Amino acid sequence: MTADVPVAPADVTATDQAVNASGPAKLALPSYGRPRGVHPPLDFEGYRSTALRHPRQPLVLLPQRLTEVTGPLLGNDIITPTDSDLTMQHAGEPQGQRIILEGRVLDSDGRPIPDTLIEIWQTNAAGRYRHAREHHPAPLDPNFTGIGRCMTDAGGKYRFITIQPGAYPWGNHHNAWRPAHIHFSLFGRAFTQRLVTQMYFPGDPLFAYDPIFNSVPDERARQRLVAQFDMDLTQPEWALGYRWDIVLRGRDATVFESEVDDK
Ligand SMILES: [Fe+2]
Repeated sequence: MTADVPVAPADVTATDQAVNASGPAKLALPSYGRPRGVHPPLDFEGYRSTALRHPRQPLVLLPQRLTEVTGPLLGNDIITPTDSDLTMQHAGEPQGQRIILEGRVLDSDGRPIPDTLIEIWQTNAAGRYRHAREHHPAPLDPNFTGIGRCMTDAGGKYRFITIQPGAYPWGNHHNAWRPAHIHFSLFGRAFTQRLVTQMYFPGDPLFAYDPIFNSVPDERARQRLVAQFDMDLTQPEWALGYRWDIVLRGRDATVFESEVDDK
């Protein structure tokens, strides 16, 4: 699955318009622009597994017609409060530094995007995922699953309470460690509209050594993946606060991955 950013009908190509002008049966469909220099390439030399899994044929745009845009949606009615509080999903509290993570989903003009399903997944404080294929010999935390979800509100805002994730080794090369990060998935108005990315923490000493972080060609785009520590968001005697906005398009667009990555 590609994670390209849907663009507005105003960006329909001239070719599309010409085709539409020639026949009433044609539907003007939005194209999927992928700005240069922002998103990582599908095949990146330093990120070993991309060599085998990147597409070798040109991507085919699957137009979103009635079936794709009217499919089932995961709405507010089945999301519970503990879905967005990863510290409250078990009988006891998880180990680690408690953090509040807040931000907004915005379009290229800074307008908030409500009703976006955001799902996150992350390691526990020791850098271990609760996953069948996890091999990192760090302790599991019986009180931490590492999965959360919420919907953005009318102001495009999301909020999670969780634990600071740990760094972990991933075997890409000798002594390879991923900087601490949280994976994000966003669903738009349909399951066919999904974007996936990762959020990092400021000042991580592993940035310079991480091929995934550095597969993003542009330095400013890389920095847009790093959350900001926000003293106003902290809660005294309880939790630190980080703020991270997600921008879908435009010059300040967040970097999105080409596919779901389990690292
Ligand atoms: Fe990861």
